Amino acid sequence: MLILGIESSCDETAAAVVKDGREVLSNVINTQIALHKKFGGVVPEVASRRHIETIDAVIDEALEQANATFDDIDAIAVTYGPGLVGALLVGVSTAKALAFALNKPLIAVHHIKGHIMANFVAHKDLQPPFVCLVASGGHSHIVYAHDYTHFEILGRTRDDAAGEAFDKIARVLGLGYPGGPLIDKLAKEGNPEAVAFPRVRMDKDSLDFSFSGVKTAVINYLHKLEQNGEVCNKADIAASFQDAVTDVLCEHTIEAAIKKNSKIIALAGGVASNSALRAKMTEEAGKKGIKVIYPEPILCTDNAVMIACAGYYEYLNGNTADMTLNAIPSLKL
Ligand code: KG4
Ligand code: ZN
Repeated sequence: MLILGIESSCDETAAAVVKDGREVLSNVINTQIALHKKFGGVVPEVASRRHIETIDAVIDEALEQANATFDDIDAIAVTYGPGLVGALLVGVSTAKALAFALNKPLIAVHHIKGHIMANFVAHKDLQPPFVCLVASGGHSHIVYAHDYTHFEILGRTRDDAAGEAFDKIARVLGLGYPGGPLIDKLAKEGNPEAVAFPRVRMDKDSLDFSFSGVKTAVINYLHKLEQNGEVCNKADIAASFQDAVTDVLCEHTIEAAIKKNSKIIALAGGVASNSALRAKMTEEAGKKGIKVIYPEPILCTDNAVMIACAGYYEYLNGNTADMTLNAIPSLKL
């Protein structure tokens, strides 16, 4: 079964053709990073406009690379939330138009489910259940994948997403946008023990996250240095901040895996590309006999392969959408 996946929830316009849920025939991503860079973050209206301009060409390219035509496609899967409403609407409207014109099934996909599903593409023998940490610019969730379509939230951020915290700290350090990869790189030259930034635990029994405290602590620390006329070692601050965030992500996720008796922890979302997170999670979970897996970076960031994969399993489960499908910006898991 060939599924055309479409993703436009934030600043990536993406289309992909995936066979039987797990075999990637094409993966086209048109990123808008350069467009939003000068604003230091994604400008929703600018994103929507760029999606409209590029989506047809991105889909054509995905078909061409897969050596397929619209006739070969069996169903169309699209992200319908969560995300920026104008951006989501471009993908949803395009998918609805294609499904209607071609008379093919339309499948609505939850963006976070998509991120988790990238692990099925990256690891062909992976089977549920398992625990997954989904950490991106918009979300930080610990999820238990009961099967291919049913996910239970075990913990979530109460304020900032992990990626959002990386982006904000990179901005105050004057590193640029998006901040995650830049902090990851700079931290390699710094001492993670240079500054003890807080590791926040909401309450004893909760696996929820809070990253606003560590963010404020870094900003206050920088202000103090400035007031005292001291020189700031950016690499040490990046390393110490990253250490605090990854400590919390690892601790809560491993606790979740132990609670669920899961022998696998999967990582997903843009922050799953973080080298310190990957190394720390692998080492710490390994001590408990838990294996850590993650997709290659191109499948961690927003892409349409993960949407086609999720769409395949939704379709097998009988979950198709009709022409009333709408974008839902704050769609719950
Ligand atoms: O999944 P994604 O591409 O888009 C969203 O759905 O948000 O995630 C983007 C986020 C950004 O905040 C970016 O800074 C972060 O993922 N990110 C990283 C790394 N690569 C991307 N954060 C930490 N370390 C990285 N290597
Ligand atoms: Zn995402």
